[in-house]
Amino acid sequence: MPTSIAVVYHSGYGHTEVIAQAVAEGARSVSGVSVSIITASEIDSPDSAALAQLDNADAMIFGAPTYMGSASAVFKSFMEATSTRWMEQKWADKLAAGFTNSGSMNGDKQNTLIEFFTFAMQHGMAWVGLGQMPGNNHSGGSENDSNRLGASIGCMSQANVDQGGDVAPPESDRETARLFGARVARAALRWQQ
Ligand SMILES: Cc1cc2nc3c(=O)[nH]c(=O)nc-3n(C[C@H](O)[C@H](O)[C@H](O)COP(=O)(O)O)c2cc1C
Repeated sequence: MPTSIAVVYHSGYGHTEVIAQAVAEGARSVSGVSVSIITASEIDSPDSAALAQLDNADAMIFGAPTYMGSASAVFKSFMEATSTRWMEQKWADKLAAGFTNSGSMNGDKQNTLIEFFTFAMQHGMAWVGLGQMPGNNHSGGSENDSNRLGASIGCMSQANVDQGGDVAPPESDRETARLFGARVARAALRWQQ
């Protein structure tokens, strides 16, 4: 049976969705894994059917836009709906990772990743970080570099607030997300051994 990876995300205006697709694409590029994408709005109560899909996943990748310096309310609603799983520690020892997108370069995105990390730790999961050196941090660097925002806990992206998901976030962030998805997939394969 292939190692299964679930990307669970919310996106209010389409930017985070672009990154979710890129993360999934990267994960799918690794042979031996199956990747599913679940929107967080499908899971707003402990009885939501899509929660059962997550019970069967070997790794979960959480994604949300940063709204008011934290994960969006829709994503928080998903997090709270998992409390029954927490009580049973049903997701213990699964892998977890996270990504977030915001309008500002900083935008307090770190806080959202730390929320995801804390959430994963409450569930007894094992966290996989971004695993990429920071780009765009020297005189020869540019915003075209992978990991241009210099994240490490998870994958960060930035979308200009006056542009749609067709162009924002930029290609460098999409590539960062693809590399991140592939990393989590490789980690999941090793974790399953
Ligand atoms: C309610 C709300 C709160 C926001 N708060 C922040 C914020 O704290 N930091 C930031 O940089 N951008 C903030 N933004 C901008 C969004 O993060 C940005 O537009 C992002 O691309 C939205 O992602 P989405 O299209 O996936 O919903 C906020 C947007 C909304 C609607």
